[in-house]
Amino acid sequence: KRMTAQKLGYKPPRHVAIIMDGNGRWAEQRGLPRVMGHREGVEAVRRTVTASVDFGIEHLTLYSFSTENWKRPPGEVRDLMQLLRLFVQTDLSRLKRQGVRVRVIGDRASLSPDLVALVTDCERKTAEGQALNLNIAFNYGGRDELRRAVRSLAAAAAEGRIEPSAIDEADIARALDTSFSPDPDLLVRTSGEQRISNFLLWQTAYSEFVFQDVLWPDFSAQHLRAAVEEFAHRDRRYGGRDAKAAG
Ligand code: IPE
Ligand code: IPE
Ligand code: MG
Repeated sequence: KRMTAQKLGYKPPRHVAIIMDGNGRWAEQRGLPRVMGHREGVEAVRRTVTASVDFGIEHLTLYSFSTENWKRPPGEVRDLMQLLRLFVQTDLSRLKRQGVRVRVIGDRASLSPDLVALVTDCERKTAEGQALNLNIAFNYGGRDELRRAVRSLAAAAAEGRIEPSAIDEADIARALDTSFSPDPDLLVRTSGEQRISNFLLWQTAYSEFVFQDVLWPDFSAQHLRAAVEEFAHRDRRYGGRDAKAAG
C-alpha cells in the first residue's frame, strides 16, 4: 500500500509552503507554448497533494498566481484563471475522497464572479476534510494581504471594536488570509530562483527555506521528500540559543 511505502521515518513539518516556479521554462525548453507548462504544473500539484497526505503534512500552501502576475500577457492570465477553474471542478471529488480541505487565499475582489462561485463551492464541499489543509494562493501578494489586514483592523478601531494601542501580533495574524494555519515551517521554491516574490511575507519570519533546481512540472514526491528531509536536519533557533548549547 502506498501509504506505508511513502511514510516518513520522522516527524514532518506541520506546514509546507511552495513557490511553484518554472512552468514557462519547462515549456520553452520543449518548444511548447507556456500554457503546456502550466498544465503539466497542475499534474505536479496533484502529485504534491497526494504526497503531502502520505507524509502526514497538515497544511500545504501553494503559490499559484501572484498579485504581480497580472503583468503577464492577457492570454497567459486567462490560461491561469482557466486552470484554477478546471482544478476546483475536476479534482473536487478526488480531493474530498482524500480528505483534503481546500481554501483559496488572496484577494477575490478582482476575480471573475463565476470563478469566485466555483472556489466558494469547492471550499464548502471540502470543509469536512481532515487529512490535509490545502491553501491555494491565487491573486495573492504578501503586501496586498497586509494592506487588506490593516484596513480591516483600522475599520475595527474606527468602530470602537478594538483599542489601537492593544493591537498585538496575534491580532495581525488573525486578520491575515492564513488565520487558520500555523506559520509555514518549510518554504520550498523550485526552478532555482532564490527570492520570496511577495509570498507570505509576515508568515515566513522563521520558516526554513529550501531552493530546488527542479522546474515545477517535474516536481515529484521524491523532491518533496528531499526538501522535508533537509528541513529535518535544520537547527531552528528563533533568535535564541540552540538546544545543545543552551543552559
Ligand atoms: C510558475 O511558472 C507559475 C506562475 C508564476 C503562475 P512561471 O510561469 O513563472 O515559469 P517561469 O518562471 O517563466 O519559468
Ligand atoms: C512567483 O513566481 C509567483 C508564483 C509562483 C505564482 P514568479 O515567476 O511570478 O516570480 P518572479 O517574477 O520570478 O519573481
Ligand atoms: Mg516564474
